[in-house]
Amino acid sequence: MTDAFAKIQALIHNTEQEFVAQLLTVQDRQQLEQLRILYLGRKGRVQALFSSLAQLDPAERPMIGQELNRLKKEFEEKLTAKLSKAAQSAKTIEQFDYSLPGRSPASGGLHPLMQVLDEIKSIFTSMGFRIEEGPEIELDYYNFEALNIPPYHPSRDMQDTFYLDGKYVLRTHTSPVQIRTMERQKPPVRMIAPGRCFRKDTPDATHSPTFHQVEGLCVDRDISFADLKGVVQVFAQKMFGQDVRVRFRPSFFPFTEPSAEYDFSCFVCQGKGCRVCKGTGWIEISGAGMVDPAVFGFVDYDPNVYSGYAFGMGVERIAMLKYQINDIRYFFDNDLRFLEQF
Ligand code: DAH
Repeated sequence: MTDAFAKIQALIHNTEQEFVAQLLTVQDRQQLEQLRILYLGRKGRVQALFSSLAQLDPAERPMIGQELNRLKKEFEEKLTAKLSKAAQSAKTIEQFDYSLPGRSPASGGLHPLMQVLDEIKSIFTSMGFRIEEGPEIELDYYNFEALNIPPYHPSRDMQDTFYLDGKYVLRTHTSPVQIRTMERQKPPVRMIAPGRCFRKDTPDATHSPTFHQVEGLCVDRDISFADLKGVVQVFAQKMFGQDVRVRFRPSFFPFTEPSAEYDFSCFVCQGKGCRVCKGTGWIEISGAGMVDPAVFGFVDYDPNVYSGYAFGMGVERIAMLKYQINDIRYFFDNDLRFLEQF
């Protein structure tokens, strides 16, 4: 092997390494073209190597010739590959629409029922009511008996429930919290009890076997029906607007005497009559009344000294009215397209 042979072999090796290194640093098409000219151009480095074949022994030429052809092919292939890659990424950049809005992280929020509940709570706490809680799995005693609803009483039928065994029920209303609170403390009592309730109702647009109520109770000396009316009136105005009027109609509940149902004047049509109030101008809210002395008997309050009023209200009903939602089942479907609107 001649010196010239070894020298040209080393040159080929270096040229290949330099080419690969330079190809990596290429930024755009122009630089790529410069690199092509530098190596494969008529006066390029590969051509220069071919020219040096003449210095070799004729016997050595074919081997180096082959080597140089391989090098030329390799450079061509690598340049073409890089060119098509550059073309592709240029296309991706063109296709990217910079006017698209950014992707914001999904953030959670309060369920509309909880928002309404928070509003109800803050209205009543601002009037001096405390927030009390009771269990959802309730003793029959608190859910019915102590509320003056004995086992044979027909009003149990209206609140047919899920009995867990003889003694326990899923509470059908939040009224049992009245009893639990009065058992725990002496008057004066001024409390609301928000919470989940259950009934054996078939779901439809206005019924759900799970729903929420807020119970209210106020007991002290000299509490009268006028106090009840005043508190409900303030609540109606804070919740639905200054112009809302309240009316009470006679009704019956075993735990209040006298009992009433109360309506709010329709805040959609201002009482003229529309679809929301079914043409009556009034929207039924819930029941209320003066605490029945029989109930005081269960908690050892002296009915000759104390009197009180109680009221209940359905949270879904208030939320449906406030947001004009026409089907109670939306609250429980967990469909983000609905929930995200609040
Ligand atoms: N608990 C009753 C129900 O679920 C609503 C109710 C009526 C609550 C009158 C009261 C009340 O506190 O005084 O139908």
